[in-house]
Amino acid sequence: MSPRSHPARLAPSLLSADFSDLASAIAHAEAGGADALHLDVMDGHFVPNISFGPALVAAVRRRTKLPLDVHLMISHPLAYVDAFQKAGGDTLVFHLESDDATAEVVRAIHDAGPAVGLALKPESPFSRALPWLDRIDELMVMGVHPGFSGQHFLPEALPKLAEARAEIDRRDSAVELAIDGGVTHEVARATSRAGATFFVCGNSVFSGGSVEENLRALRAAVDGGRTDALP
Ligand code: DX5
Ligand code: ZN
Repeated sequence: MSPRSHPARLAPSLLSADFSDLASAIAHAEAGGADALHLDVMDGHFVPNISFGPALVAAVRRRTKLPLDVHLMISHPLAYVDAFQKAGGDTLVFHLESDDATAEVVRAIHDAGPAVGLALKPESPFSRALPWLDRIDELMVMGVHPGFSGQHFLPEALPKLAEARAEIDRRDSAVELAIDGGVTHEVARATSRAGATFFVCGNSVFSGGSVEENLRALRAAVDGGRTDALP
């Protein structure tokens, strides 16, 4: 499947939203045409920040029918698969660099029901994901060191995306190729050109201006990147 035939999806990251008014952030994201919502779970151990857990995911679940992409930046994802499945996560994304055996986490998520996402920190090469590519639904390339929203995009994610895109296409695989972190409008275009099909956007959606307008501009940037990539 080529990046041109796979639909592009935008997933606003609620980490950048006003936690005291998440209902409004969700409503604006829906009105702006978001395809999913991204929820960043941080344990203060795998990353140096603490965000929220299953109770907040469940609260968001009650507010929207959008798919929930739950990003587990935690050292022990295996112990929490059931909790985040019950909370309503549609995709559970865990890190290859977590302390649990990748095969066990993949199997546990699969058995619990959600789609399986595998995330790679900036320092992990794409080659580390190769053995798992046929057993996951989403590959998430990090554009920043995980832990905080609003960071600058690390350009080394671009060749990593291109390498992943080439291998996904070579296998004729339906794996969703996601980029998370630092996705400004310019980065949305460049990462779309490199082959990403799923765009996690925190500050570029929620840190100023109209959420609906921000999403429209990001959509235009992603579409522009696809056009750039046409042969
Ligand atoms: C970073 C998180 C990201 C973050 C993205 O650790 O995984 O999902 O919320 O925020 P921006 O788009 O502002 O980099
Ligand atoms: Zn994330």
